[in-house]
Amino acid sequence: MSQHSADPAPNTVLATVARHRDWWRDAVIYQVYPRSFADSNGDGMGDLEGVRSRLPYLRDLGVDAVWLSPFYASPQADAGYDVADYRAVDPMFGNLLDADALIRDAHELGLRIIVDLVPNHSSDQHEWFKRALAEGPGSPLRERYHFRPGEGEGGELPPNDWESVFGGPAWTRVTEPDGTPGEWYLHLFAPQQPDFNWNHPAVGDEFRSILRFWLDMGVDGFRVDVAHGLVKAEGLPDLGAHDQLKLLGNDVTPFFDQDGVHAVYRQWRTILDEYTGDRIFVAEAWTPTIERTANYVRPDELHQAFNFQYLGTHWDARELRAVIDRTLDAMRPVGAPATWVLSNHDVTRHATRFAHDSALGTQIRLAGDRELGLRRARAATLLMLALPGSAYLYQGEELGLPDVVDLPDEVRQDPAYFRGAGQDGFRDGCRVPIPWTRTGSSYGFGAGGSWLPQPEGWGELSVEAQQGAPGSTLELYRSALAVRREQRGLGAGDAVEWLRAPEGVLAFRRGEFVCVANTTGESVTAPAHGRVLIASDEVTEANGEAKVPADTTVWWTTA
Ligand code: NOJ
Repeated sequence: MSQHSADPAPNTVLATVARHRDWWRDAVIYQVYPRSFADSNGDGMGDLEGVRSRLPYLRDLGVDAVWLSPFYASPQADAGYDVADYRAVDPMFGNLLDADALIRDAHELGLRIIVDLVPNHSSDQHEWFKRALAEGPGSPLRERYHFRPGEGEGGELPPNDWESVFGGPAWTRVTEPDGTPGEWYLHLFAPQQPDFNWNHPAVGDEFRSILRFWLDMGVDGFRVDVAHGLVKAEGLPDLGAHDQLKLLGNDVTPFFDQDGVHAVYRQWRTILDEYTGDRIFVAEAWTPTIERTANYVRPDELHQAFNFQYLGTHWDARELRAVIDRTLDAMRPVGAPATWVLSNHDVTRHATRFAHDSALGTQIRLAGDRELGLRRARAATLLMLALPGSAYLYQGEELGLPDVVDLPDEVRQDPAYFRGAGQDGFRDGCRVPIPWTRTGSSYGFGAGGSWLPQPEGWGELSVEAQQGAPGSTLELYRSALAVRREQRGLGAGDAVEWLRAPEGVLAFRRGEFVCVANTTGESVTAPAHGRVLIASDEVTEANGEAKVPADTTVWWTTA
């Protein structure tokens, strides 16, 4: 078996690596979904203290930074993406002192902390929105959101035809303080998530202040939620289309990817640049093309944007090569690093997506062939980590976790699930708390239960079960990240040199480094390229040739 041994680097090395200038250009950033990572107080819900207690695990895994999904005060209508107070920690996750301790400990371990910022909408329990409702039509607070009278004789129809991403109309009618049905307000997501009006100066002021609050707390950056949504087309014009979900990320709409959003990010960038420490923004921006995404990472705007086109690509050499080329070509002119991502808290885990041969989309409810899914997932991860730029990992993928496809409907919490006609709403399947130990209450997640039930057999996928086990997915990730750290050139640069390869195989060189990914179901023979650094399955070599098994990626060095 030609695999690199997993030998975590000493802290000092990691600390140095994480602090090198422009660290974010080739960083591996690990997403923690706080509800589901580690529960310190046994209430079944993960929390900040739980995350802090597991930081050494992340240091040993070899990532550079941790992105935390929202932990702010929130009624949790959308798992924290409905923020009631941007400067407070929700009691279910802890308090500001816990956040402070987490940031400090992370820094001591050489890890950076990126927090989620949710500027497109607040919670309906945000002070501004509550006052806007209570004060009635004409309240200045209503101008900070999008309130409008309805259409039709009695104002009984929504002001325009926009649909919510979670299904149904993007407008909800309020009951006025006098008890009568009144104005409508816009919410591109759940009704509990009213959209801010970014034309109102108070909104911009408030978010600049929120940025400073967290920068002063010491965070290293922000992941900007719905970065493409802040600015709506003048006059909120009808879209004139049904089934608008299909347009999202594929076409221009009056509510997403409007050019006006860029002025906001240019302002934000000046704030970030006032702070020392090479801090960053990463955009969650769904746009019709990678070229449009590149607009968000122009030199005076944000630093990175998630590459959702890559996330949505099937395990297919031709498709992968096309999206890799297009990404690198789009990012080069703006000087931003490409980013690569396979999983996050909104999509079916890639071990399950790749367990299917047909194109089922990114939210699916079928287990497929689990063994095949895991083989491909491991290979896909090695391919991703060999590409120039920055890579994002989602908690649990290093354990090869599949999606939990058979959650009983009564435990589901994804608001999209309840809105029916919207996104499929199966996001709970990738949010099940992760297993740390083989046995014990909630497999080491906490001393109590877990807010979503963990499936049987979860313990066999745990950190405890995989730690030090040769060939385990956890050790594969550790080894790959250790090699990436040693071979500084691996994440650097903005190009790959493609090598000739059989149909269904990707092969590229980057300096002394060669990566070959066999996406077919058959083993292939390829030229050997020196010394094998790591492979997602056993590679045999003889007479200058290597046999690369089905669905396997291998890294060589010619040095
Ligand atoms: C994107 C987040 O990733 C998702 O979880 C959330 O539901 C929407 N934005 C709305 O905030």
